[in-house]
Amino acid sequence: MPIRVIVGAQWGDEGKGRIVDWFAATARYSARYNGGDNAGHTVTVGQRIFKLHLIPSGVIRPKVIGMLGNGLVINPRTLFDEMETLRKAEIALPPERLRISYAAHLITPAHQALDKAIETARGKGSLGTTGRGIGPAYTDKATRQGLRVADMFSGDFCERIGDAVAEANRTLKMLEAAALDPAPIADEYRRFAERLKPYVADVSLELDAAMKAGETVLVEGAQGTLLDIDFGTYPFVTSSSTTAAGTLTGLGLGLDAAKDAGVVGVVKAFQTRVGSGPFPTELSGDQAVRLRGTGSNPWDEFGTTTGRPRRVGWLDGVLLLYSIRINGINELAVTKLDVLSGLETIKLCTAYKRDGKTLTDLPFGPADLSPYEPVYEELRGWSEDLTQVRKWKDLPIFAKLYIQAIEELAGVPVRLVSVGPERDQLVEKEGPEPRR
Ligand code: GDP
Ligand code: IMO
Ligand code: MG
Repeated sequence: MPIRVIVGAQWGDEGKGRIVDWFAATARYSARYNGGDNAGHTVTVGQRIFKLHLIPSGVIRPKVIGMLGNGLVINPRTLFDEMETLRKAEIALPPERLRISYAAHLITPAHQALDKAIETARGKGSLGTTGRGIGPAYTDKATRQGLRVADMFSGDFCERIGDAVAEANRTLKMLEAAALDPAPIADEYRRFAERLKPYVADVSLELDAAMKAGETVLVEGAQGTLLDIDFGTYPFVTSSSTTAAGTLTGLGLGLDAAKDAGVVGVVKAFQTRVGSGPFPTELSGDQAVRLRGTGSNPWDEFGTTTGRPRRVGWLDGVLLLYSIRINGINELAVTKLDVLSGLETIKLCTAYKRDGKTLTDLPFGPADLSPYEPVYEELRGWSEDLTQVRKWKDLPIFAKLYIQAIEELAGVPVRLVSVGPERDQLVEKEGPEPRR
């Protein structure tokens, strides 16, 4: 298996970071292919909680080399802050352990200012972006005005970044937002260039060589399938290809790399979303508070990047089936099963109803979910605490039945069940695979 892709099967925050960390125990490379510091991936090791925004989660394991592909938009300030946080935790990232594509695009303070100003201008119709400048940076990429990592080393870089800020100022003025001073930004990015230089690499070439040498590359998706620019709940999406296919264009891999690829879909035992957009199985009131938590636990449903409360609801099997198809997911990792302990009944959305008809697929994708009404299967809950369980046989029967119901619906096996944020709070599933 040349590549194993870990991809979010919902609206992000499925627990990809902790699943990547588990697979990284046997990997040599951990690569990100999309997005930027809008991502927030948590890895918990003992008392230490790592919140990674740009650096691949696999690098927490000492032998793993992190790769940032051309598909990313990189804010160098976040990158260096994150490296510094890791250094303090005794995770050193010399250039041999972190490789950054020369073709990745740069995020500047102008992109962040534009992101915020555009969101403000949208008013009630705002998308609820993370404010990290992601949309404007990908806009510059698509309109061929972007600055790439390699551009930092050209003689006219300061002039070009200054021009880019001046250009952004024209839009900021129209949006009645404060203008930025280009000079200190250009100066800061000149210093970033010096620091970044030893890390810059041809990620595509290095990964190709690694795969030819028989190494497995562990690939970490950011966001989730339903936030994909093409396949998500458009326009309430991010600006990159979050799905498994993004791996190829975002890392510079050929189609042959996809042959026999392992695609692990990470799915939370319930559904969450942060930001605006449709959410058919959304809950409100006490039921929502029960799933979200109040913020007293580190894993409660508040954004890793922005701290915003996440919207919560029952697991949506129709959207899960869609994600499995779009990504070619061949196994699942179900996270946060422990959070459901103590619920009398658990609902699982197995289909949608529209005009008296029941359907399990989405003829025109998930962009407009408003005409659909979820159809639920009700399953019995369990009262036992799951956080100490490490073996499939030790899970309560109704917890096993819930996982099996997900498997039957999904048509792909559940390989891992996560019962807490800690590295070792993971159960490998045993037993027969689902009928297909
Ligand atoms: P990611 O963006 O997909 O990597 O997910 P996040 O890190 O944004 O959000 C997942 C949150 O749930 C983090 O706080 C994790 O530490 C936590 N988490 C992951 N798996 C589990 C689990 O099985 N149980 C509990 N209680 N928390 C978990
Ligand atoms: P991880 O990798 C959850 C959401 C934002 C917003 C939309 C667009 O941690 O799962 P953007 O700033 O990307 O332009 O915002 O996408 N969003 C995420 N939601 N998890 C994420 O990342 C997200 N990254 C972006 O909330 O709705
Ligand atoms: Mg997250």
